[in-house]
Amino acid sequence: MVDELAGRIAGYAGLRAPRGSKDADVQTIAIAEASRGRGRGRALLAALLEEAAARGVHEVFLEVRADNPIAQALYRSEGFVELGRRPHYYQPDDVDAVVMRLSLAGWAVAAAVAADARGETPRNSAAAAAADPAPAPQAQDPWSFVRPSRAPVAGAGAAADAGACT
Ligand SMILES: CC(C)(COP(=O)(O)OP(=O)(O)OC[C@H]1O[C@@H](n2cnc3c(N)ncnc32)[C@H](O)[C@@H]1OP(=O)(O)O)[C@@H](O)C(=O)NCCC(=O)NCCS
Repeated sequence: MVDELAGRIAGYAGLRAPRGSKDADVQTIAIAEASRGRGRGRALLAALLEEAAARGVHEVFLEVRADNPIAQALYRSEGFVELGRRPHYYQPDDVDAVVMRLSLAGWAVAAAVAADARGETPRNSAAAAAADPAPAPQAQDPWSFVRPSRAPVAGAGAAADAGACT
């Protein structure tokens, strides 16, 4: 998925969710440096998780560099928990990988509760179903994401591997 801001790429994220699989992986996520810290990364991650839920996924996995506390904070705050570490996973930097897992059912309920507390309609369809089984009116959505027709690397303002989670 690509996050567009005024016709420019502000970020991208990728999910591996093979048809029929109950597991999925966040493979990459990055927001251009100038657009960070404004909720775009969280919204992009939520869009990936919503897509995973729509595909019938139960658990989402990812690896994140042990020296990346910002991404780890984002994942933990969405409910990912650490499963373990892969020593020396990222080379040539020789940095460990933190392996994390998220239960999507739990995430959907938490997202619905959080949206309800803010007085919003959940943007997530699974969360919306958890919050209210009746169809909810569409709230205005400030974020829009598109599925790219080509590899969304150029133009995101970050190094090609900056958003790699695997
Ligand atoms: C990780 C990344 C996608 C987050 O995107 P973002 O748009 O800046 O993040 P958001 O504004 O949505 O913030 C989400 C959470 O991230 C954490 N976070 C974001 N910026 C932070 C900072 N400067 N310091 C500490 N935590 C930070 C916080 O937990 C934040 O939640 P909060 O706002 O409720 O405190 C972005 O920093 C990025 O592109 N980093 C480079 C690529 C990368 O590391 N990708 C991850 C690979 S696994």
